Amino acid sequence: MTVSQALRQAEHRLRDAGVPEPALDAELLLRHVLGWDRAAVIARGADNVPAAAEQRLFAAVDERAARRPLQHVTGTQAFWRHEFLVTPDVLVPRPETEMLVEAALELMRGLEAPVVVDVGTGSGCIALSIAAERPDAAVHGVDVSAAALAVARENARRLGQAGVELHEGDLLEPVAHLGGRVDIVVSNPPYVDPGEFPSLAPEVRDHEPRRALLAPDGPYGIYRRLAEASCRLLRPGGHLLAEVGRGMAATVAESFRAAGLAGIQTRPDLAGIPRVVSGHRP
Ligand SMILES: C[S@@+](CC[C@H](N)C(=O)[O-])C[C@H]1O[C@@H](n2cnc3c(N)ncnc32)[C@H](O)[C@@H]1O
Repeated sequence: MTVSQALRQAEHRLRDAGVPEPALDAELLLRHVLGWDRAAVIARGADNVPAAAEQRLFAAVDERAARRPLQHVTGTQAFWRHEFLVTPDVLVPRPETEMLVEAALELMRGLEAPVVVDVGTGSGCIALSIAAERPDAAVHGVDVSAAALAVARENARRLGQAGVELHEGDLLEPVAHLGGRVDIVVSNPPYVDPGEFPSLAPEVRDHEPRRALLAPDGPYGIYRRLAEASCRLLRPGGHLLAEVGRGMAATVAESFRAAGLAGIQTRPDLAGIPRVVSGHRP
């Protein structure tokens, strides 16, 4: 079977299974199996796929057709400037979350050796991306999930960022010793509305960690607690930045205000959806 034939067959199977972007996923699975880039797939369409690779490709296609997330099949996801290991223990990093990295880096400009805490670090994508851009920063990542932290630790090792300190625990509790010295608290907390959980895509609902999607105290409670704890942890003038879901920005902004933060701002994503809410300790 040639590369073009394999691609067509893979796409066909994925489309039949209801996978949202069958052509793209077929290509990404083929590239994963062959270790090729996009240009090679285009240029070498008439090449024969070796039998062992063909077998691996269609095993991967079957997994994806069963609606396992593509990144669980390939094991990685690109985020900011790096490739992150992804397992079922962590949320797959989303492109919109790169906005948090961008906004945090912007607020850190001009600060020497800033102290940064990433709450709910998961794969470590935010903390490690910031640490890579700012080698002078002291970066901490916190997560309630020991399994997620193991993935973050492995990502830190692979990216040469072993200096990022990873802590297990609730919100800012494990870094309470930094009280009054933190420049930036950044977080992409779980924010799925429990009422909407059943209608999520099967890749998300059935495969991503519940704790990464649903907060036990509801979608807004975690922002309120985060804002209150940040007011104790940040230095005066230090910033809290959090990602929010569609339609949540105004309520989250209000809870930041109620917790005592000032200069509340919201930043829209590329689709115009308010995606990041920020404020600073007066
Ligand atoms: C939406 S995921 C974000 C993961 C990663 N930061 C990203 O943006 O891809 C939320 C993360 O917060 C963690 N988490 C949930 N509740 C938490 C809490 N109370 N304290 C600390 N981490 C929490 C989850 O385990 C999960 O890894």
